[in-house]
Amino acid sequence: MDVTLNPEPKWSKIDHLFVLLAEDDKPRNLAKSIHKLIDGSGFKGNSDETITLLADEPRKVTLMGLGKRDAITLRLIRTALYAIGKLARKQRDRAIAVALPYTIAEIGVVVDYLSQSDYKYDSYITIKKDGQGPISAILIPPVELESKELKRIEAESRAIRSGIRTVRDLGNAPANVITPTRLAQRAEEIARSVGVKATVYGKKEIERMKMGGLLAVNRGSAEEPRFIVLEYSPRKAKKHVALVGKGITFDSGGISIKPAEKMEEMKFDMCGAAAVIGTIEAAAKLELPIKITGAIPSTDNLPSGSAYKPGDIITMMSGKTVEIVNTDAEGRMILADALHYASELKPDHLIDYATLTGACVVALASEAAGLFSNDDELARKLIESGERVGGRMPVWDDYKDLIRSEWADMKNSGGRWGGAITAALFLKEYVNCPSWAHLDIAGTAYAEQETAREARGATGAGVRVTVAFLESLSRS
Ligand code: BES
Ligand code: MN
Ligand code: ZN
Repeated sequence: MDVTLNPEPKWSKIDHLFVLLAEDDKPRNLAKSIHKLIDGSGFKGNSDETITLLADEPRKVTLMGLGKRDAITLRLIRTALYAIGKLARKQRDRAIAVALPYTIAEIGVVVDYLSQSDYKYDSYITIKKDGQGPISAILIPPVELESKELKRIEAESRAIRSGIRTVRDLGNAPANVITPTRLAQRAEEIARSVGVKATVYGKKEIERMKMGGLLAVNRGSAEEPRFIVLEYSPRKAKKHVALVGKGITFDSGGISIKPAEKMEEMKFDMCGAAAVIGTIEAAAKLELPIKITGAIPSTDNLPSGSAYKPGDIITMMSGKTVEIVNTDAEGRMILADALHYASELKPDHLIDYATLTGACVVALASEAAGLFSNDDELARKLIESGERVGGRMPVWDDYKDLIRSEWADMKNSGGRWGGAITAALFLKEYVNCPSWAHLDIAGTAYAEQETAREARGATGAGVRVTVAFLESLSRS
């Protein structure tokens, strides 16, 4: 939904006002009539307390409790905002307003969450439920802000919203629709819409570039691979940041095939690629003064008579050799070439996004992405960005023994123990940049089920954190 900030909405134009309140909290910035309504309702503000009152203008007022005032977290707010989106959809509200407690400082994040709250991927639902048009929302800012600041937050969240929407739509689309070719076309279309240059390399060119990892994974597929390069080059760029995203449009595991159960989730294995596309879209919309290069290797990973096999030895773009011990460790094979390619551009920072390992999901579940980095400063900035990037995991060379090979420079899998770490270590072998970070978004890129905070499917992970990081660079 589209969200604007407005301290004094016209109540006659609002179908439904939502007021979030803590226990013993008084709403601010609301009309007297609404105060009276709340006072007379017996509403306490306990968590899980929701009361809808019928009024005049606006016609409905829903009070939502947040519990104890000191215990309010962004997470709690997010849950409430998601509930608002669902309720508004159900009740066919067209124009809503949301009032927040005045203790909330991160308004930009709140606007983002609210604007995502009614997202549903229904492109392939042929029998649509009737009646629900787009919802527009007014957020009543909890603190006083200058109108310039309001405009800035609105513009920023609008850019992030469209970037995240791109990621969610691309991620949720099935793998028979989003093939590598189609992913590249979408990337080109999106790039064109925001004035970003897109170059798509086909199989012949990928062969010429000697991207052995990408070609090996592609061998089992009837679909051609693609290598997508996006370049956003503002005139006065302060820094150059390269973003690399894993674009496996479907991961069956290949010859080392995955079990059937939940294999359908592997259509999300291109969410890293989508994050790069969505981030560049948002950054270009915001006209950030940072040069950004996106590099996306894309193929699906399927078994066939021509597929790469365990025991094969592959020569990568960098010249290093890899002994394949598991064809399901395909993400690192395609990323290695892209990281090598991106390193040669000598960016100031290099960040990659990948639904890389099940081991990362075992370690962190869906609340935090795995962060690996060779640069403390970069790692700190990414953690501070506030989006599901928790602590940092080691990429110590001490773990390298696990991927040592007798037949080649390295194996492509170190087995179960420390699976997320050995995957990151493998990538590090192809990175030639002193400021690199790898985000393993296997757990955060998509929600297996709907939660109290978000819809099932692709989440848009990676966009917010990266835009926040790029903004911090443009301020420095
Ligand atoms: N795409 C998967 C990782 C994944 C698993 C993402 C579950 C989201 C949910 C990746 O390509 C993969 O299969 N990794 C293997 C690596 C192993 C063979 C070394 C894994 O994690 O099992
Ligand atoms: Mn795999
Ligand atoms: Zn994969």
